Amino acid sequence: MKLEVVQTDITKLAVDAIVNAANHTLCGGGGVNGAIHGAAGDELLAECRTLNGCETGHAKITAAYAPPASFVIHAVGPVWHGGNRGEVENLASCYRECMNLATSHKLESIAFPAISCGVYCFPHEQACEIAVREVVKMLPDSTIQRVIFACFEKKIEEALNENLARWDSVVWCTNSG
Ligand code: AR6
Repeated sequence: MKLEVVQTDITKLAVDAIVNAANHTLCGGGGVNGAIHGAAGDELLAECRTLNGCETGHAKITAAYAPPASFVIHAVGPVWHGGNRGEVENLASCYRECMNLATSHKLESIAFPAISCGVYCFPHEQACEIAVREVVKMLPDSTIQRVIFACFEKKIEEALNENLARWDSVVWCTNSG
């Protein structure tokens, strides 16, 4: 089992699935969404148009159309409105749905961007805590063997690494205790 944080463009990663920080239309946009649709081109957009959009907190899977990844899992993160509109639960649900979709397709490797941490303005420290916690919790019942958290920003890389270290020590303490 391998979990790592890498500062990179997620479209370049050779994993079974990359996760897209999409919006509810699933028809492209800016940020990671723009990069993934830009790399994949019209075929991805055409498949996305058949999906009838996606609600906040949920995810849908398509082919990737552009190597090196095989699939794209489009997750719709919450827009941050201050924290009282279900943002935390919706973000956690995104990560869980991605892991479930990956497992139902028997995938072994997945890369996540920092969902909702860009245009959607979710506070990055809390978002990184949720991301790591939800993914780690799902791993025992998952086919996933390798997780990459891909990010552009140093502050997000640091927050993810802090949380991964915390979970490492929890697992270590549990195993040794
Ligand atoms: N690879 C890895 N990380 C990236 C990349 C990339 N190619 N591009 C940006 N990031 P955002 P959101 C980082 O805004 O907040 C779009 O317009 C970025 O630095 O892409 O969920 C959609 O259409 C940030 O830390 O996603 C939606 O409307 C993180 O990815 C809306 O934005 C997420 O930033 C979704 O907003």
